[in-house]
Amino acid sequence: MKICIILGTRPEIIKMSPVIRACERQNLDYFILHTGQHYSYVMDRVFFEQLELPEATYNLDVGSGKHGEQTGKILSGVEPVLQKERPDVVLVEGDTNTVLAGALAATKLHIKVGHVEAGLRSYDRKMPEEINRVLTDHCSDYLFAPTETAREILLGEGIQDTKIFDTGNTVVDAVFQNLELAKDRNNALNDLHLEPRNYFLVTAHRQENVDVKERFEGIIKGLELVANEFGLPVVYPIHPRARKMMNHFGLKSNGIEFIEPLDYLSFLQLESKAKLVLTDSGGVQEEACILKIPCVTLRNNTERPETLEVGSNILAGTTPEKILECTRLIIDRNNEWKNPFGDGNAGKRIVEIVEEVQG
Ligand code: UD1
Ligand code: UDP
Repeated sequence: MKICIILGTRPEIIKMSPVIRACERQNLDYFILHTGQHYSYVMDRVFFEQLELPEATYNLDVGSGKHGEQTGKILSGVEPVLQKERPDVVLVEGDTNTVLAGALAATKLHIKVGHVEAGLRSYDRKMPEEINRVLTDHCSDYLFAPTETAREILLGEGIQDTKIFDTGNTVVDAVFQNLELAKDRNNALNDLHLEPRNYFLVTAHRQENVDVKERFEGIIKGLELVANEFGLPVVYPIHPRARKMMNHFGLKSNGIEFIEPLDYLSFLQLESKAKLVLTDSGGVQEEACILKIPCVTLRNNTERPETLEVGSNILAGTTPEKILECTRLIIDRNNEWKNPFGDGNAGKRIVEIVEEVQG
């Protein structure tokens, strides 16, 4: 039985790492196909090095581009690799263009597709990720649902019960596996002259936020209001898309510390010691919940409703006053909520399921 793991962006590398480690431990016949959707050192290689992941056997180097162009390049790049290697199953994770194109290329060749983190829905079809999630789920053979809510969504869309597996989310594995290491490397806070619980950590990169001047400006003004009211530093490791759009729109801010995107251990450390996190990232909403740090989500919806239900997260949108108001509401919240994303064994479970069903 041969497995092909397709990945291409920062969150896929992080969330696939527990699956890769499980394949290694089980000594399975598998290989990694990197699409090259992310390629800057700080968005790609740093994670392979730090998480000690094996090199990808193939890298398509597709790079950036418009949706059709990028998705098309991945589709036509993946196909010949799958034809040559003939894996029994292809695994994809999440909701990027890499995921949709990888799944589509495989299913057209009648290769089984396993979707890690299946069944998430924001119900906002303007998000490119929502289209990618829905289409990937509906062409997958094995749907690894991270939560009960995700399973119910899939059943509600008519997907057969027998295709859905409750596994938990591999992000819990990634956090647990790396948090201990992160604790030993106490330099991220020192390097930035930050004190535990005395700063805000921000990430924002969603297309519908940073590519729209009014929304991005709203986020920046909101962060400045938060910095002023609480008198604490606001640290924003800025995603290359957001950096590019800030320059394009000529946006500036003196109240925010913009830094380069961080390696995973440094970022985990900053997340785990922050007073509060403000983000539009999917993975960061989950990690804040797991790490018991309150989160203000800079969006009007979320495909992670479990975080709202347990009380770790609040939806603020992108208007400055609402960002400040939501920060006030959640900043001192009792953080004894339960982690809804599983026990940290999702990667192992997924690999065991693949072995069993393909065996
Ligand atoms: C992609 C995913 C998004 C995910 C995010 C994770 C899609 C549709 N979007 O968004 O779901 O949350 O990755 O971070 O798949 N760039 C670089 N270096 C890189 C990568 C990108 O400079 O290594 C810059 C380029 O200017 C590029 C822009 O970032 O045009 C956007 O990159 P792209 O991969 O298209 O989308 P992301 O915003 O990264
Ligand atoms: N992350 C990181 N360094 C950073 C910002 C984020 O390692 O500077 C990690 C974060 O811990 C999480 C993942 O990147 O695991 C989230 O990726 P991103 O926000 O790019 O994508 P999304 O989850 O929104 O798809």
